[in-house]
Amino acid sequence: MTVHFIGAGPGAADLLTLRGRDRIAACPVCLYAGSLVPDGVLAHCPPGARIVNTAPLSLDQIIDEIAQAHARGQDVARLHSGDLSVWSAMGEQLRRLQALGIPYEITPGVPSFAAAAAALGHELTLPGVAQSLVLTRTSGRASPMPEGETLAAFGRTGATLAIHLSVHVLARVVQELRPHYGDDCPVAIVWRASWPDQRIVRGTLATIEADCGDDALGRTALILVGRTLAPADFDESCLYAADYDRRYRPLGTAPRFPDT
Ligand SMILES: C[S@@+](CC[C@H](N)C(=O)[O-])C[C@H]1O[C@@H](n2cnc3c(N)ncnc32)[C@H](O)[C@@H]1O
Repeated sequence: MTVHFIGAGPGAADLLTLRGRDRIAACPVCLYAGSLVPDGVLAHCPPGARIVNTAPLSLDQIIDEIAQAHARGQDVARLHSGDLSVWSAMGEQLRRLQALGIPYEITPGVPSFAAAAAALGHELTLPGVAQSLVLTRTSGRASPMPEGETLAAFGRTGATLAIHLSVHVLARVVQELRPHYGDDCPVAIVWRASWPDQRIVRGTLATIEADCGDDALGRTALILVGRTLAPADFDESCLYAADYDRRYRPLGTAPRFPDT
């Protein structure tokens, strides 16, 4: 018996890996993390599967569901939105399973920041503009931010920011970032990236609050900030430059990687 932790992707049912789909189809028990896991993903469960929404359950109750499946010798598909490596609460479940000696496996998923970047049509790292992407959030009731992980600290680097779980405190985000990125820094907010009702608002740090208007668009949104979102200009990568001597395209009489 194995618990298969599976990244269910950002929303579109076909943004699920083939491995994830096959694991779901092979598990007689499926525990899924609430409304962010689409019905189209749950449709891969086999007929008669026990399908449980864990949103109203406590961690103890979730582990109890898993322990019962373990006692029955039934594999479990454990679905979380996006990828499991960020804000999935997987870590605490793994720790409990380790203590109980219940085996598990992890299948990654498409994270929401990647779906948002695709929706915007942008690469978030551009040569000469930004070469780092910070996946972060602001503090919430359930999860205070560790000291030092402030928007201002990340902002001082000039990296592209993908700010999760924070659209409801947009004013605070803007206020903290303006001194570091400047009023004209591009911002994009993507609600429900890849869902049928996806919505995008673009602006700058100076305008984004007004650009969003008064519509209540919900909390499932990513705030992306950085100059890669509207680059005036950027360098081409050296990798594909005609005169760049590289392992897979040796150049000249004395290439740097002669044996490959
Ligand atoms: C609990 S976290 C889960 C993150 C997830 N594990 C991932 O890989 O993206 C939920 C937050 O992720 C972001 N999010 C998740 N799905 C999204 C989507 N389809 N579009 C925009 N943001 C999304 C929002 O900031 C939301 O508040």
